[in-house]
Amino acid sequence: MAPVTSLTASVHQRLASALSAVLPETDADPLLRRSDRADYQANGILALAKKAKTNPRDLAAQVVAQVTTGDVIKEVEVSGPGFLNITIADRAITENLAARAADPEGRLGVPFAEHPGTTVIDYAQPNVAKEMHVGHLRSAVIGDAMVKLLEFTGENVVRRHHIGDWGTQFGMLIQYLDEHPHELDHKADTGDTAASGQEAMSNLDRLYKAARKLFDSDEEFKTRARRRVVDLQAGEPRTRELWQRFVDESKIYFYSVFEKLDMEIRDEDIVGESGYNDMLAETCRLLEEAGVAVRSEGALCVFFDDIKGPDGKPVPLIVQKSDGGYGYAATDLSAIRDRVFNLKANTILYVVDARQALHFRMVFETARRAGWLGDDVKAHQLAFGTVLGKDGKPFKTREGETVRLVDLLDEAIDRATAVVREKDTQGQLSEEEIAERGAQVGIGAVKYADLSTSASRDYKFDLDQMVSLNGDTSVYLQYAYARIQSILRKAGDHRPAAHPELELAEAERALGLHLDAFAETVHEAAAEYAPHKLAAYLYQLATLYTGFYDKCPVLKAESPAQVENRLFLCDITARTLHQGMALLGIRTPERL
Ligand code: ARG
Repeated sequence: MAPVTSLTASVHQRLASALSAVLPETDADPLLRRSDRADYQANGILALAKKAKTNPRDLAAQVVAQVTTGDVIKEVEVSGPGFLNITIADRAITENLAARAADPEGRLGVPFAEHPGTTVIDYAQPNVAKEMHVGHLRSAVIGDAMVKLLEFTGENVVRRHHIGDWGTQFGMLIQYLDEHPHELDHKADTGDTAASGQEAMSNLDRLYKAARKLFDSDEEFKTRARRRVVDLQAGEPRTRELWQRFVDESKIYFYSVFEKLDMEIRDEDIVGESGYNDMLAETCRLLEEAGVAVRSEGALCVFFDDIKGPDGKPVPLIVQKSDGGYGYAATDLSAIRDRVFNLKANTILYVVDARQALHFRMVFETARRAGWLGDDVKAHQLAFGTVLGKDGKPFKTREGETVRLVDLLDEAIDRATAVVREKDTQGQLSEEEIAERGAQVGIGAVKYADLSTSASRDYKFDLDQMVSLNGDTSVYLQYAYARIQSILRKAGDHRPAAHPELELAEAERALGLHLDAFAETVHEAAAEYAPHKLAAYLYQLATLYTGFYDKCPVLKAESPAQVENRLFLCDITARTLHQGMALLGIRTPERL
């Protein structure tokens, strides 16, 4: 009994069959929408009447006569030039919510997708030996939400963290480490993830700067460093071993940041650029043999009719440079082969900065020409915009440097902790609880600000706004959740039962109909790669709940049955908020 048919789906089905009873040869869409005037409005009749060359109001009246009413639909009437206004029976609303609440799998009646497939998702891909900055935030946050949303709909999801762990800069780093072997040594391990992460990063940073300095000033070191690049590609054991130390050191740091972000990243899902090294030559050979790539001035290139530079000359995708080296494109094309032929992806989703859009357009088109992508395997870039400072310019520190992600997260946590402390006027929370909630509120605020704007748009990183208790913020949602929990505790912490026999107040109906739309919203957000649609839904849910709470006394309702039914509405609202926020990767503390 798990999946619950939504009221929207029931109404749709009843209207569609009424329509086909009147106009048998059309399979017409009634175009059903939620509406302010009635519960739903159907606008589809106007266009159908035009096609059938009849009067829309007459047609509407004929349809109304065919609609089954009494159970789900209480009333249907013609309005305006030929719209249908539909009112749902109170009983149907409550019974529908009761079925959602009773879902034994705890999925609130959300069905699985009819035809799930395999999606490989490429997200959270920082670069080895480099600090993570605000640009890496979006890929991680949006990617994590997409993983959760897709898995919730039943999709088989394979995660890939395509970290930047390969390239010529490693020659310089490895050579320097070989000559200064203790540069990556750790002080005693304190068991503190954040501290070891920071130590790892400062070691790497110091080494990077020192190596760079030597590389730029010492010709002989430069020569030795270049030789190391060749050794690395050839898999020379000592060189590989030193390279591995950089990767391991960086992972200590990455994990500390992902932990702060309250995000699970698994080692087996980290397959960086180096992981495709053995495929590069073959990828080039296949492209050249198929005639997809051609030699041009020594380099192996793919050309596109519609991609030209400012000078009007075609800009090619370079898969192999004239010196024989492979770059970012060859790696991405090899990764596509791996994802299609080994991981059996139906969809490959790239959560990557919009500024890489041209690269992916060229890579996808090349893979399509090679026959690796096609009708049954699609690639899509979930391209995200830039994080801006309060001034509306790309986010930088006062000194003009890129902002370190950890600094930003720490500041968000500090601000949120202050808010939690301030709100705890009764002094009920211990210091430890304040710190824990502060982290959940602060990280939630950062994630929500990112997820509540559509990914393609730039947004301003404004902590004052993000931790505000009013408006479209995660804090507002978290407080709504915690307030409901406190009411439920006051009522004695039992699972309240629904009372479908009761009439509902306007605010209860509005809340109930919105709760009914959860499943459709989740599916839409997953299918359209649009977590912001879920965020908007949750915000509206909290707003409707506030409206209900203001107008409908819960514990002081008229009868014991009504108290119970309103507690039931509180409970299912809380569970929907909790589930929805969890899909966005955001915690909902029980008390705040
Ligand atoms: N490491 C890259 C960066 O920091 C992102 C990698 C994106 N994924 C990919 N398959 N190219 O910009």
